[in-house]
Amino acid sequence: MSETAKLIYEGKEYEIPVITGSEGEKALDISKLRGATGYITLDSGFVNTGSCKSSITFLDGEKGILRYRGYPIEQLAEHSTFLEVAYLLIYGQLPTEAEYKEFKHIVTHHTMIHEDLKRLYDGFRKDSHPMAILSSMICTLSGYYGESMDPLNERHQEISIYRLIAKTPTIAAYSFKKSIGQPFIYPKNSLSYVANFINMMFSVPTEDYYIDPVVERALDLLLILHADHEQNCSASTVRLVGSSHANIYVSVASGVNALWGPLHGGANQAVIEMLKEIHEAGGDIKKFVDKAKDKTSGFRLMGFGHRVYKNFDPRAVIIKKAADDVLTKLDIHDPLLDIAKELEEVALSDEYFLEKKLYPNVDFYSGIIYKALRIPVEMFTVMFALGRMPGWIAQWREMIYDKETKIGRPRQIFTGENKREYVKIAQRT
Ligand code: SDX
Repeated sequence: MSETAKLIYEGKEYEIPVITGSEGEKALDISKLRGATGYITLDSGFVNTGSCKSSITFLDGEKGILRYRGYPIEQLAEHSTFLEVAYLLIYGQLPTEAEYKEFKHIVTHHTMIHEDLKRLYDGFRKDSHPMAILSSMICTLSGYYGESMDPLNERHQEISIYRLIAKTPTIAAYSFKKSIGQPFIYPKNSLSYVANFINMMFSVPTEDYYIDPVVERALDLLLILHADHEQNCSASTVRLVGSSHANIYVSVASGVNALWGPLHGGANQAVIEMLKEIHEAGGDIKKFVDKAKDKTSGFRLMGFGHRVYKNFDPRAVIIKKAADDVLTKLDIHDPLLDIAKELEEVALSDEYFLEKKLYPNVDFYSGIIYKALRIPVEMFTVMFALGRMPGWIAQWREMIYDKETKIGRPRQIFTGENKREYVKIAQRT
């Protein structure tokens, strides 16, 4: 027996179907509301509005739960690898050994970018933000593979997915090399996905480069933790652009652009800049916490708060522990980590943050680890995009195959001028 809700307005009653998700979440299905009532709903920022049904990632913001295709993030963080998580998110199941071997082989053999594409880097300033470069280069990939652009053709989709997963680290590493004037380092097929990225980022042609397994494991963990997060701002952007049947490259490039915002993925760069500011101001934590509470200051504690998590972000819990581990193993003492921990302690004992349920999110501690891995702060959001790539692809692919998908075209409530007559410029005052 399907459940319904009743809407009573202006003496009329309307039945609204209630749908229930596999975790017991409930939604009012308003897909027929305007036809039945003439009314639409209004929900700025979609705080209360679902855009789709999805089987990829489950979040419970109250309980701090995050699962990819049903697997708890804590288990994937401990036992899996980023490439295996990418396969899981995109295809829905953990790969068999044979499937994983083939996936790794194909990804590995698509890591180079066209030599002409490398020349595009000449057009960027050395201080061009690497997110601008990443977005431009991913968009440009759609100009190189015209023969496999049909979003509804499975073979075209498959090769595009391999190219995106494979080439994003190369594009990212090249943007770093461009910024420091060093030669671009070609991918090396003998290395793992993460080790290859580290090598392209930090090795130079003049000498052998040692890849520290601690660094490789820390980076793999961070990529796993960033891999998907259901209908966040950038994933929703990818779905919206893809709903017009634009190709997967430009849909994902749109996600890169949405992620760049400091309220979203750009927060990891903003957190480190905030921690540095606190450190340079003599570590006066209380001053910054008070400023964040003062609405007129326009200042927010970056890395705190979340639209869904009203409890600890499970990713932040894992990253905070990993930060301690990595810095200890690399014998690094970073005063910013001490400041971050003290800031968390002060904020989480303050009524303002507790009442508004503002806890550290995924961006609060991640930058501490990126910094320890010698990744420059301008590259932090690029690292977020590297991790989120399989999530964007999985969301795009689910949208394309979903029979209920229509082109995304929200309504509005008009609040502008009512009808008025044109006035010739000579008569205007
Ligand atoms: C990510 O959606 C996702 O899943 C995103 C993400 C993912 O994996 O894709 O998890 C990644 O984007 C994490 C969030 C990174 N952003 C930041 O750390 C920036 C700082 N945080 C915020 O600006 C804010 O918390 C958001 C953007 C994350 C969430 O914003 P909401 O849900 O729209 O909440 P809001 O802005 O309405 O804030 C609610 C209240 C407000 O006060 P009131 O108007 O109710 O009085 O809390 C206050 C805000 O002023 N508030 C903060 C604050 N965050 C919210 N006050 C001080 N410092 C903060 N960080």
